[in-house]
Amino acid sequence: MFSKRTSWDLKVNRITELLNQYLSNAENIINLTESNPTLVDLNYSEKILKPLNNLQNLIYSPDPKGLIGTRESICRYYEQKGIDLNPEDLVLTSGSSEAYNYIFRLITEPGDEILVPAPSYPLLSHLSQINDIVLKSYRLIYDGEWHIDFDSMKKSLSPKTKILICINPNNPTGSYVKRFEYEKVIKMAIANNLIIVSDEVFWDYKILEDTASIISFSNCQEVPNFTINGISKLLVLPQMKLGWIIINGPADFKKEALNRIEIISDTFLSVNIPSQNALSDWFYTMNDIHYDLKRRIKENYNFLVQKINSDIPVQLFNIEGGWNAILRLPNIYKDEQWVEMFLNDCGVYVHPGYFYDFEYDSCIVLSLIVSPHKFQKGIEKLIDRILISSI
Ligand SMILES: Cc1ncc(COP(=O)(O)O)c(C=O)c1O
Repeated sequence: MFSKRTSWDLKVNRITELLNQYLSNAENIINLTESNPTLVDLNYSEKILKPLNNLQNLIYSPDPKGLIGTRESICRYYEQKGIDLNPEDLVLTSGSSEAYNYIFRLITEPGDEILVPAPSYPLLSHLSQINDIVLKSYRLIYDGEWHIDFDSMKKSLSPKTKILICINPNNPTGSYVKRFEYEKVIKMAIANNLIIVSDEVFWDYKILEDTASIISFSNCQEVPNFTINGISKLLVLPQMKLGWIIINGPADFKKEALNRIEIISDTFLSVNIPSQNALSDWFYTMNDIHYDLKRRIKENYNFLVQKINSDIPVQLFNIEGGWNAILRLPNIYKDEQWVEMFLNDCGVYVHPGYFYDFEYDSCIVLSLIVSPHKFQKGIEKLIDRILISSI
């Protein structure tokens, strides 16, 4: 009765099973995986709600690419970052997943392949299955900072590869595409007739002050490309469901892509009008919460830097940006075993690295947006537990 593309293994995995038992007693769990910013005690101001109280919201006069005023306000944001965009090159979506979906429908045939970094966020495996395309990965390697392994990228290429995805910065490694990597990615795309998709939802969350590392694909004209972003991370408003695609590249490609994607978008018209009307005000009112969140991320990361010293048999990976930190634990247990142990023995929940396709066996991933008080308590407990196992 059901399509093969949805024949997922719906069995609850061991960690989720265990977590569900503990969640019945949720206040005893310190959840260091929480990445939903609306659930981490941030101070959302009532000012966010004011722009929703707008009589214009009662008028439904949609534009398939999104209301022009909304697209213009997004361009103003990029202008502040030194990036000049034309609002006509933007298409609004209800979020990044929908943006990916539009691009996959526009570019790929069933059985085509896309290249995705590993480790990275697991969202793309489901999205590719739903779109009947095949996900192939290329490695990111770590030597004090994360780099694209171009040899592994070449090995993963096939005549069916259509799209090269960069996640900039990547989740969970927090690594940006460096300038020299950007040049190589472009060359690789030209040589192999690939379209680049750059997912930049965490782009504004850099931790390193070295701005040379911060490159956006959004004004790249050499290669057909799509840049994905949205307010779920940028303005810390995932519930408002507003994202966008910036379409760029050679003029012929851009024109045809925009015409076609406009029809895809017109078929759904999924972006709600109140969020579109409110966006330009949110760009002004959200600075405070954005500032708070960035400060919190730095505070949590600095706490880790200070705690994970040479007396502790744990490696903290350097990050450049994003919302996560990665720890590599002693290899005496696998990531899943450590996660179970932390839940059972300390009531602390962290993600095992295998969720993100790490090649090392004993990595765990932590969310840096958890409130510092909880974060520090959770980390102290983890370190105590690790030390007991390592003696
Ligand atoms: C790299 C990356 N892209 C996209 C998303 C989803 O973003 P949105 O809420 O805009 O769908 C996530 C979610 O965490 C993510 O990590």
